Order: sequence, then C-alpha cells, then structure tokens
Amino acid sequence: MPRTNCFYVSLLILVWAKTGEGALRVQLPDYDKNSWRNVLKRVAPDWVLEEFQDVRVSSAAENGFQLPKSGNARIEISKHGKKSVMANTPTDALNAINTYLRTQCLSQVSWSNSSFSSGCRKHSNDILNFESKQIRYFGNMCTFSYSFAWWEWPQWEKFIDWIALNGFNTVLMPLGQEAIWRDVFMGLGVERDELDSYFTSQAYLAWHRMGNLKAYGGGLSDAQMLNDFNLAKRIINRLLELGIVPILPTFAGFVPDQLEKDFRLFPTSKFNRLPCWNNFTSETSCLLSVSPFDPLFQKIGSTFLRHQKKMLGGDITNLYSADPFNEILPSDSSKFDASFMKQTAQSIMNSCRKVDKNCIWVLQSWSFTYDQWPNWAIKSFLSAVPIGNLLILDLYSEVVPAWQMTSSFHGHNFVWCLLHNFGGSRELRGNLQKVDKGYQLALMKAGSNLVGAGLSMEAIDQNYVVYQFMIDRMWSQEPIPLNNWLKSYSESRYSADFKVSHKFWTILAGSFYSQPEKWGNPRFSVFLYHRPAFAKKIEYWFPVEETFNHLQSLMPSLMHVLGDHPLFKEDLNDVMRAVIQFEIGNEAALSLTEAFLMEDKQQIGASCENLMDMFQKLESYSNRDFKEWIEDSKSIAPTSEERQVFPVTASDILTVWGPTGQNLDYAHREWAGLLSGYYGRRWQYFCDWILEHDVFNHTDFSISVFRDVERPFAISNI
Ligand SMILES: *[C@@H]1O[C@H](CO)[C@@H](O)[C@H](O)[C@H]1NC(C)=O
Ligand SMILES: *[C@@H]1O[C@H](CO)[C@@H](O)[C@H](O)[C@H]1NC(C)=O
Ligand SMILES: *[C@@H]1O[C@H](CO)[C@@H](O)[C@H](O)[C@H]1NC(C)=O
Repeated sequence: MPRTNCFYVSLLILVWAKTGEGALRVQLPDYDKNSWRNVLKRVAPDWVLEEFQDVRVSSAAENGFQLPKSGNARIEISKHGKKSVMANTPTDALNAINTYLRTQCLSQVSWSNSSFSSGCRKHSNDILNFESKQIRYFGNMCTFSYSFAWWEWPQWEKFIDWIALNGFNTVLMPLGQEAIWRDVFMGLGVERDELDSYFTSQAYLAWHRMGNLKAYGGGLSDAQMLNDFNLAKRIINRLLELGIVPILPTFAGFVPDQLEKDFRLFPTSKFNRLPCWNNFTSETSCLLSVSPFDPLFQKIGSTFLRHQKKMLGGDITNLYSADPFNEILPSDSSKFDASFMKQTAQSIMNSCRKVDKNCIWVLQSWSFTYDQWPNWAIKSFLSAVPIGNLLILDLYSEVVPAWQMTSSFHGHNFVWCLLHNFGGSRELRGNLQKVDKGYQLALMKAGSNLVGAGLSMEAIDQNYVVYQFMIDRMWSQEPIPLNNWLKSYSESRYSADFKVSHKFWTILAGSFYSQPEKWGNPRFSVFLYHRPAFAKKIEYWFPVEETFNHLQSLMPSLMHVLGDHPLFKEDLNDVMRAVIQFEIGNEAALSLTEAFLMEDKQQIGASCENLMDMFQKLESYSNRDFKEWIEDSKSIAPTSEERQVFPVTASDILTVWGPTGQNLDYAHREWAGLLSGYYGRRWQYFCDWILEHDVFNHTDFSISVFRDVERPFAISNI
C-alpha cells in the first residue's frame, strides 16, 4: 500500500508541475470591491442600481492577488425576483450585470450613446452563470492614434466604463510613455532638442512606439508629454480600481540617433539601423535600435522600467508589451538570422525580468503573418522565452489565425483577437458566423495555452454589432445561435422589442455581416474614398437590389417606431450611406468612364454633377463631423506651436497620411466635412482634369491631384 501511495504522490506532483509551469500568472491589482457601483451610477439610470443592490465581489486577496484562471460571475434570482450577483472581480460583476441589462432589460451601453428602457422583464427563480477563459483583452497600438489621439479624461472615463461593463480584464496602455523615455534618454546624455527628431507628434505615436516612425510632425513638447502621462496615470488608476490589469510598455530596442551619432556617449556599443516603414524616408523612419547582443540593451530596458515604476507609483502590473519588428523585417543582413532573433527575444525578456521577476511579455503576432516569417524563424524567436513568460496576441485571428500556422505558438499562452477594422473606415461589413466558428475552432483545437479572447480593432466607432457579438462569444463555450442573439441585440440597442427592428438586423446580418471568407476587404472596393480612377465599382457579396428593397420596405414602420432613437439614427445613417454609395456612386462612375471613352463632354459634366450631389447627400447621413476631430486636436494642444501642428497632423492621418501620401486614404472616414470637402473635391478635380486632357496619364494625374487637392487639404486645417 505505501508504495502505491508514493506512486500516486509523485504522479500528482508531475501533473501539478506540468500545469503549473506554463500557466499564465497575472498579478491582480488591489482593486476597490465597490467600484462597480460608481460605473453604474455614471452610465445607468437609477432603476439599474435598485435592481442590483446585492453585488458581492471577492477581494483581490481572496483571489490571491492573481487574475483568476477563469472569469466567473453568477446572478441568482429569487422567487420574488430579487437579484444577487457574485463575482470574482468588479469587471466580472459589471459584465454579468451588463449582459443581464442587454438580454433581460432592453438596454445597451454602446460607444456613441446608450439606450435604457425603464426596467427589466419579470424573472424569478433562476441562476445565471457567467464563465470565460482567463483573459479578456482590449487594445491595438493603432487605436491610440486612430481613435484616442485627442481624448481627454471625460472621453476616457466613458470608455473605461464601457470596458468594465464588458468584462475586459487586460487593457493595452502605451499612453504617456514618452515622458518616461524622455527622462531615460536625457539621463543617458541625449539632448532635449535631439528628442524632437526622435519622438513623433501626438497623432503618430502609435507607429513611433512600434519602431516605424520618428520625428514626423516634429516631436512632442514637454508639456504634451506630461499631459499624456498624467492622463495615462488617471486611466491606469481607474483600471486598477476596477480590477483591470494595464499592459505597460517595456523596451523593444528603439533609441534616438544621438546615441550612435555622438561618439562620446557609447563609443563601444553596437547599434542596428532598422529598415524604413512603408516608404517613409530616413528622416522620419528607419529608427536606430540597440543591438540585442550589447549590454546597453539591458541597461536601457531596466532603467526605463525602474523609472516607469517610480513614476506610476509601484508594482501595478506584470504585463509588458514590446514589438521589436512591427511591419519591418529584422535588420540583420541575412534578414532572418536565428541567433539574432533569439537574442532579441532574450534581451527584451531579460531586461524586463531584471526589474520585475514576474514579467510577462505581451507580443502581437502581427509581424509573423504580415512579413510572412518562415516557421523556423518564428520558432527560434519564440523558443528564446520560457513558456509562461510570453503572452501572444493573435491579433487578426478571425482572418489569419496565426495559432494555426505555428502549432499554437509552440505552446506559449495566447489570446484569440478579433481585429476586423483597419484605419477606422466606416464600411458596413463583417461575418458574425465566421467569428463564431473561428473562435470555436480555437476552443476545440488550440489547446490549453489558449487563455482568452480579445478585441484588437485599429479604431472604434464602426460596426459595433461585430464587437458586441465577439464580447458575448468570449463568455460562451459554445457557438452562439445567431437569430436569437440578433433579436436580443436589436431589442437592447433600441430598448424596444419590435419585430421590425429584429427583422432589420436579420437583413443586415444576412447581407453586410455575412461577408464570405474569400472576399477582399471592402474598404478598398468603396472606391469613392480613394484617388479617382476609371472603371471602378462597389461590389457586394449579397443580392444587392433585393436586400435594399427589403430594407426599404421596412422603413415606414421603422421610422414610425424608432425614427427618433439616437442609436437607430446612427445605424440608419450607416445603411443609407451604403445604399447611396452603391446606387448613385456606381452609376455615376460608370457613366463617367463611358463618357470619357466616347469623348462626350456633356455626359462627363452630367455624371460629375451626380457625383457631387451624391457627396452632398452622404454628408447629411454622416454620424460624425471632421471639424470635431480637428477641434479636439486643437483643444488639447498645450503650446502655440502644437496648436498649429496638431490640426494639420489630425487631418494628415485621415487623408494623405504621410508627406508624399505613403498611406494615402488608409484611414479614410465617411464624415461630414470630408465627404464633400475632400473626397468630393477630389472627384471634381478628376472631372475637370479629364475634360482638359484627351489622354489620361495616370502618373501625371497622381502628381497633380496630390499637389492641388490632397496635400493642400491636409495642411489647410489650422
Ligand atoms: C444620446 O441619446 C440621448 C437620448 O437618448 C440624446 O439626447 C443625445 O443627443 C444622444 N447623444 C448623441 C451624441 O447622439
Ligand atoms: C513604396 O513605393 C513603391 C513605388 O511607389 C510602391 O510600389 C510600393 O508598394 C511602396 N511600398 C510600400 C510599402 O508602401
Ligand atoms: C505620363 O506622364 C509622365 C510624367 O509626365 C511621363 O513620364 C510618361 O511618359 C507619360 N506616359 C504616357 C503614356 O504618356
């Protein structure tokens, strides 16, 4: 008998060691157990707090100051309908409450606005369980430029409430790091004005932080760095209060040129010159990076983390992000040099562990797929870090599931992320069923190192339905029956259970939101927002006329019951723009092409008039005004110079996006002010051009339209 016992004991230890070793150990902040109440007070009418009086959240100590292995909450409903909520953390509790509000009380908190009914359905004698994987992640580096660049506390406060209400427990937080880097680099001997040719201006910080851009827009003032830092600190404190773990930056290798140029500083250190990003020149790209083999790497990395810790007031997280090769190949001459890759990963990890022995490095999978790393290179890079110390964001899982191409990241913990949107373009599109299946496949096949799911859109304020769906998916172990879900979505969104709004959403889900796998991204096919050209047309994957007719037939009753509802108006605007673009835009563009071929100047003129009318119409169905974006950029600027620079960069990033149009129209927006003022004006210029030129020379036209319309528009917004 004793022998058997002994055998049992050692087996148990083995099993424990195996699961314990690679597990993701995320430090949980000492949050405020009652912080959920403040969120509800801010966002919801009084009846919501009356419904949810009994909410019991475990303390961080009860959770062992570790992010629980799964997100858990329960709502118990007594036979008299009284509700009690039990949850691991405040954000778990809020997610349960919010889900209840959405499914039982016809209420929704969305990005642009909320919709609340006046109470919940009758409901008694029930227990609702909420369970998810360990991680619910929010963030993409780019969102901090494309959506958050000009945000101040009021916008952030609302957004964090939304984050908490949807149960996210890890949030990317790169904001404010420049103030810390400034001190670190100056401490190493870099002069203040050299930093102006290193940091970019506010609008472009996302790409600065990923090693893609420097100096573009002329750096940041000390005052702006401090504003960003103070804002970040406030955001972080609120996240911590709610039990949400911020992911802070760590050193990826990028440094100002002066470290190499000024020979007195580090005469024996080795540096690499990174490739330039997307055709930006060496003045604004091609950053300098410390060689991972050089001890200076460890020194800078640990100095930064110590200073960050000091400025933020202690050990608030053990999650740190670094992306050394975002859309740039490793610079070494042989491109993928195994020892270089390995050393890079090791140096990032080691410099972090020097300061925080529990450091977990959060890495975006983007480089692997974007630059098509060979499998051996991925393997050699990833194998440099022990399992458990790396958390990979599989950033675009719904389309390019990197986990499938890398044997589940060779055992490293990873998060299945929905990216869905690039640059913040507004086209209605998506595929709810595909999202559902993609995550289900990962749940079934990826193994226990799939530790959660996330949202990683480049910009918010578009296609809300797709993200709300994914959020619900995070809390479900099984596929979600779509029809029921849509019914509930339409009810919560408009706070009413009209059949016609359910029908509206069923049609949208069966058309715009059923984009087939192999269909290209329509942000390119909606040609009206790109540089004009001939023979363009918008194509959809569904029977367009039938769908539009169907939608049209619902309009009278929809308008009757929901005409004044703010979220319905917003959805209707989105649909109307899609209809107008397709119906008028396609026809006018076709007619323009024909007219040019037939040299029919009159028809050219008529087609153009139609196009201009169309842009005017689109303006009236816009959900946002470009002017606000520009005004927001001005209003945060702390110096007179930045009051000039911010609006220009705000405009640049949505239009030409680069001094010579490097990312032209990548972040196009269907906003009032841009529709006629920029896209319309550009088509007018095209029309005038073809009236004056018998032969269309593409090169000539591109040069001229950039010089006469695109660039002047971008720099005129002061
Ligand atoms: C949000 O909704 C309320 C009414 O529900 C409305 O008064 C307000 O104007 C809306 N805000 C926006 C920005 O649409
Ligand atoms: C850079 O510019 C060239 C020529 O204009 C173009 O063919 C290429 O696609 C551009 N590369 C990137 C990454 O934008
Ligand atoms: C188009 O214009 C460019 C620049 O002016 C010129 O170099 C090129 O030869 C022209 N192409 C044709 C087909 O005329």
